[in-house]
Amino acid sequence: MDRERILSGMRPTGRLHLGHYIGVLSDWVKLQEKYKCFFMIADWHALTDRTDTKEIKENIKRVLIDWLSAGLDPQKSTLFVQSHIPPHAELHLILSMITPISWLERCPTYKEKLNQGGENNYGLLGYPVLMTSDILIYKANRVPVGEDQLPHLELSREIARRFNHLYGEVFPEPDSLLSKTTKILGLDGKKKMGKSYENYIALADEPEVILKKTQRMFTDPKKIYIGDPGHPEECNVYNYHKIFGESSGEDLERIFQDCQSGKLLCTSCKKNLAAILIDKLTPFRQKKKELEKEEGILQKILKEGEEKALTVASSTLKQVKEAMEI
Ligand code: TRP
Repeated sequence: MDRERILSGMRPTGRLHLGHYIGVLSDWVKLQEKYKCFFMIADWHALTDRTDTKEIKENIKRVLIDWLSAGLDPQKSTLFVQSHIPPHAELHLILSMITPISWLERCPTYKEKLNQGGENNYGLLGYPVLMTSDILIYKANRVPVGEDQLPHLELSREIARRFNHLYGEVFPEPDSLLSKTTKILGLDGKKKMGKSYENYIALADEPEVILKKTQRMFTDPKKIYIGDPGHPEECNVYNYHKIFGESSGEDLERIFQDCQSGKLLCTSCKKNLAAILIDKLTPFRQKKKELEKEEGILQKILKEGEEKALTVASSTLKQVKEAMEI
């Protein structure tokens, strides 16, 4: 039997950071062993942040380099850019005809954008319909997404169901695949790690930068003087140790106790964390430096990915039109 299909996408926002790695990329790297994977750089979706358009092309290249450096393998997965596969847009148009506006207006991400003062345009409203066509055009069975994308996925299922009901069974209903990894907060310990919050460690950060950024991290807010007992369960730095330390052979129990007893100073705890992160990210940085010299390889990877994606997408579009008799 054919392996189940996975599709997921990421908007080209620029350099990727630890939040992308922990929440998304490390999962994708594992999934490629088990599923037939399609991973897409969603450049059309990036148009919702219009100020970014000039940077999109450069950011596509950056994201691709980061993906490859983190372990996505073009021999195992199909890697491509959304706008290079026109059937996504054609299916989007077709699906827009069977999507009631009320479904889209209910979408929390849409409401949130409007509340932030965003322009209420047609593309923003239709964002989940485009996402649906990204998924359905590959007949993906599973979609690894973060929690914030779950309402979009629910809409995709509703749209798939509606299409199948109207025109006959063409699409599987895609299921979400939530990341099992613990959430990682930004360096401020308050918000999700994000480029715009300046609270991130980029995967490509140099060791000195990682050291500087970890030194600035907030620790347990209740610990005021050196030697005060700490509360590791409330400390963002300890959470980072939990996420990254175990695989590096750290004795988490020991850190926990030494923090509680006040023996472990925050400065040393952060220094240890920096060393772990530097160690983890060094192979990534090396691979990235090699890839940056290899413009030709990047082009070739995208071209091959596109050919594979286009074959599948065109075949689905053909079935859609046959089902609708158009
Ligand atoms: N909207 C997703 C995000 O911002 C990116 C995306 C676009 C996507 N199309 C997709 C994710 C299809 C999963 C499936 O993160």
